[in-house]
Amino acid sequence: MSRISVFGTGYLGATHAACMAELGHEVVGVDIDESKLAKLEAGDVPFYEPGLDEVLKRNVEIGRLRFTSSYQEAAEFADIHFIGVGTPQKKGEFAADLTYVNAVVETLAPLLNRPAVIFGKSTVPVGTAKRLGDLARRLAPAGNDVEVAWNPEFLREGFAVEDTLHPDRMVLGLDRDRPGRAEEVAREVYANLLDEGIPFLVTDLPTAELVKTAANAFLATKISFINAMAEVCEAAGADVTVLADAIGHDDRIGRKFLNAGVGFGGGCLPKDIRAFMARAGEIGADEALTFLREVDNINMRRRTRMVEIAREAVGGSFLGTRVAVLGAAFKPNSDDVRDSPALNIAGQMQLQGASVNVYDPKASENSRALFPTLNYMTSVREACAGVDAVLVLTEWGEFKKLDPRQLGGVVRNKSIIDGRNCLVPKDWQAAGWEYRGVGR
Ligand code: UGA
Repeated sequence: MSRISVFGTGYLGATHAACMAELGHEVVGVDIDESKLAKLEAGDVPFYEPGLDEVLKRNVEIGRLRFTSSYQEAAEFADIHFIGVGTPQKKGEFAADLTYVNAVVETLAPLLNRPAVIFGKSTVPVGTAKRLGDLARRLAPAGNDVEVAWNPEFLREGFAVEDTLHPDRMVLGLDRDRPGRAEEVAREVYANLLDEGIPFLVTDLPTAELVKTAANAFLATKISFINAMAEVCEAAGADVTVLADAIGHDDRIGRKFLNAGVGFGGGCLPKDIRAFMARAGEIGADEALTFLREVDNINMRRRTRMVEIAREAVGGSFLGTRVAVLGAAFKPNSDDVRDSPALNIAGQMQLQGASVNVYDPKASENSRALFPTLNYMTSVREACAGVDAVLVLTEWGEFKKLDPRQLGGVVRNKSIIDGRNCLVPKDWQAAGWEYRGVGR
């Protein structure tokens, strides 16, 4: 078993640290945010991620997992280091902000007195790994005995533990100019997973970095494709949900990620396609990715369109109306509201004069920090009391199970807008509601 440190304790880092301990390794998680560390040390996950709390608690209790803010401690403890910090979008630009990734290497490398392998997991612009390798070797007392390899992460929020312990593939990028121990070390760390026969692709650094961005760009494109079809279906009087089922039966196409709705949000897809375009521009390949601009446009248009549909539903103007927004997280089973379509739509309706009640099973606290002036409610019933329209914008299981008859008793006007096509239209229509979906 190995001794491992993981830098960053967000969705990616905390999950990776806990799952590496679950595999039997001794792990220290490192972050600069003391309040997060205190929670994690106590076995509490500072965000909502199903199943992570059990894995975390179990491994903290048996002493295989601990947390610290001390880089010194991490450098003394482990010779295998994972970088799992965020790479958000730069303010006012498309490019990725690499401040946190750079800071990890700048702080850690000077403390590396023994041979060490640093595995990057964060999503970074192609070329970053090579640069960080040079930087680490320059700053580290161990010099050329420090290796940087890239091991991108493909986990989905809401399925983070499952995706980390049972990924559909693993990718490892090596510095081909400097053969070293990184592959051997990765094979030891992931031995249990490799024994299960999970595909393991070993490649060079730029390919590994690009695999990650390409995967997210493809997923974003797939979603925008079906949302573009939804626009055409709306104009033609067709039903995009049946269209998706029908084309999805072709396994070259596949049904997954063909759900039309308010589009993609979150801390990954939106910023990753933008950072990808920015980076392609820098390396002289911008033309190759101009289509991603359209993918982004289609996606953002979904949000405006949803506001228009809601405005029609309340009679042509939001002034003096009250609407309910069910769901604020960027997707169900998450409390993440980064670039959430639901909150964005709620904010736009409020700007246009509506009083907006918001209910989300897990994301209210995070939402309030971003949009403090929306009315946060503690139940669907409370959010829907006396409203002129109800919008379902995140497909939580709780909303799919709503009883149209019961809810009909609390609203002022029985108008339901299904921004995720997750309800059964005829059930709502039968209960006297006016149903509006996306592209159907
Ligand atoms: C995404 C990728 O799916 C992961 O593989 C990747 O590791 C991760 O980004 C990352 O880069 O860290 P995630 O952001 O957790 O994962 O969420 P997704 O499940 O991809 O959903 C993204 C958005 O697309 C959500 O807002 C979701 O509602 C929307 N979506 C998804 C649709 O609108 N339609 C669909 O058919 C599927």
